[in-house]
Amino acid sequence: MLCHFSYLLLPLSGLIHHATASVQIIPGASITTTNAPYQHMQAHGGGLILVDGVYYIHGENKLDGSAFQSINCYSTVDLVNWKFESKVLTVGGSGDLGPGRVVERPHVLYNEKTKKYVMWLHIDSSNYGDAKAGVATSDSVCGTYSYIGSKRPLNFESRDISLYQDTDGTAYLLTEDRKNGLRIDKLSSDYLTVESATYLWAQPAAFEAAAIVKTGNTYFMFASKESGWSPNDNVYCTSTSLTGPWSSWEKFAPSGSNTFSSQTTAVVNINGVIMYMGDRWVSSNLMRSTYVWLPLTLSGTKATLTNQVNWILDIKAGTWTPGPSETQVEAEASSNTIASGAKTVSCSGCSGKTTIGYIGGSPGGKLTMPNVSSTVTTNTTIRIGYTNADQSQRYAKVSVNGVSYIVAFIPTGDDNTPGTAALTVPLNAGDNNVVVFEAYNGGWGPNIDRIMVPKS
Ligand SMILES: *[C@@H]1O[C@H](CO)[C@@H](O)[C@H](O)[C@H]1NC(C)=O
Ligand SMILES: *[C@@H]1O[C@H](CO)[C@@H](O)[C@H](O)[C@H]1NC(C)=O
Repeated sequence: MLCHFSYLLLPLSGLIHHATASVQIIPGASITTTNAPYQHMQAHGGGLILVDGVYYIHGENKLDGSAFQSINCYSTVDLVNWKFESKVLTVGGSGDLGPGRVVERPHVLYNEKTKKYVMWLHIDSSNYGDAKAGVATSDSVCGTYSYIGSKRPLNFESRDISLYQDTDGTAYLLTEDRKNGLRIDKLSSDYLTVESATYLWAQPAAFEAAAIVKTGNTYFMFASKESGWSPNDNVYCTSTSLTGPWSSWEKFAPSGSNTFSSQTTAVVNINGVIMYMGDRWVSSNLMRSTYVWLPLTLSGTKATLTNQVNWILDIKAGTWTPGPSETQVEAEASSNTIASGAKTVSCSGCSGKTTIGYIGGSPGGKLTMPNVSSTVTTNTTIRIGYTNADQSQRYAKVSVNGVSYIVAFIPTGDDNTPGTAALTVPLNAGDNNVVVFEAYNGGWGPNIDRIMVPKS
C-alpha cells in the first residue's frame, strides 16, 4: 500500500513507461477518448487523482443537459490520450441521485486508513434549494461508488465543492455557502464527515469553485467569482496555514481574459509541474464544454497563468515547454482531393472563409490531404479546425498514413464559428504525410476548415 500512501506525501508523479514527451495538451480543444464510445470526454467540474502511475479524472457527464446523468471516470498516462473507464455513479429511481437532480463537482481522495476512495459531490435539487454536500465510497478508483448520503456541512448551505488533502493526510472540504461565504472545513479521519470549520471568507466576498495547492510551506487558494456559467477573472490568495491569515485576493490570469474563458475546478501538482484545470462551460449545450488546462507558475506567493495554444508536459522530467509552432493545411487547398460529394461550404469565421463539407453520408464524401509536412518522425497532437451546426456530436474516420482514428466533433453552434478537435497521430519526417477525412459508420462528418500540425 506504500504506492497509495506515496501520493499523500508527494506531488502527483507517475511511473510513466511511454516516451510521450512530444504530445501536446491543447486547452479548449475537444478530447475524443481512445476507446469506445469515442465521445468527447465528459468529465466536467472534476478533479485528478494519481493511482499506481495512472491519472484518473472523475467528472460530470453533460451529454444530455445539466441534470445528473452520471459521474464518469477516465484514465491517462500523459494527460493527452484519455480512455473511458466507467460510469461510477448513475441516475437512480429517486432521492439525491434521482432524475432531474443536480450532482456536480465530484472530487476523489484515497483514504489510507480505510483503504477507500472517497468522493464528495455537490448535491442539489433542480432549483438549487437543497444546497448539500454528498459522499460516496469505492474500493477502486473507477469502481462503482456506494452513495452514503448528503448533508449541509455544519448545517450551512453548500454548493460548489472541492477537496484538499494536506501533506499530513488530513483532508478538507472546500465549500461555498452563499449566505455566509466560502469555507474550508476539516474532514474526519475517514474523510466521510465534516468535523469542524477551518476558515471562512465571509460574504460579500462571493467566491465559488475553489481549489487549493501547496508548494513548500505556502498554501495557494484559488476561486472563481460568482457569475453563473459565464467565466470571470478568477482569483487566488496565499497563507502558511489553512486557518489563515490569508492574503488578499488577486487575479492570476491577465485582467479581462476571464481566466482564458474558464472557471477553476482543480489545481494539481504533477511531479512538480503545477497545472490549472478549468472548465470552459457552454451553457447553451453543456456537453460542448471543454477543458482549459494550463501550466501555472507559482513563485514565492505569486501565481501567474499564461495562455498556450498547445504545450508539452513531460511528466517524467517534471517539466513543461510551450508547444512547437504549427503549419496549417487548409481543407480547400488545391493539392487536396475532394471526392464523392464533399464540397466547399462558406464559413465566415474560418481561415480562407471556406470549409469542406458533405464529408461522409451515403455518398461517402472524402477529403484527402496528401501533403502534410513534419520535420521529424514523431507522435504529435494535431488540431483540427471544423464546424458542426448540429446539437449533438458528429464523427469522422480520420486516417493518418493509413492508421485510422474515430474522432468526435462536438457542436460549434453554427457553421461559421470553427471549433478545435485534438488528435494525436504518428507523422513521418517529410512533406508527404497523408491525412484523410471520411465517414464513420455512414454518418455525416463535420465541415473541415483546416488542420494545424506541429512542425517539429
Ligand atoms: C502533393 O502530393 C501529391 C501526391 O503525393 C503530389 O503528386 C504533389 O506533387 C504534391 N504537391 C506538393 C505541392 O507537394
Ligand atoms: C508512437 O506511438 C506508438 C504507440 O504508442 C509507438 O509504438 C511508436 O513507437 C511511437 N512513435 C514514435 C516515433 O515515437
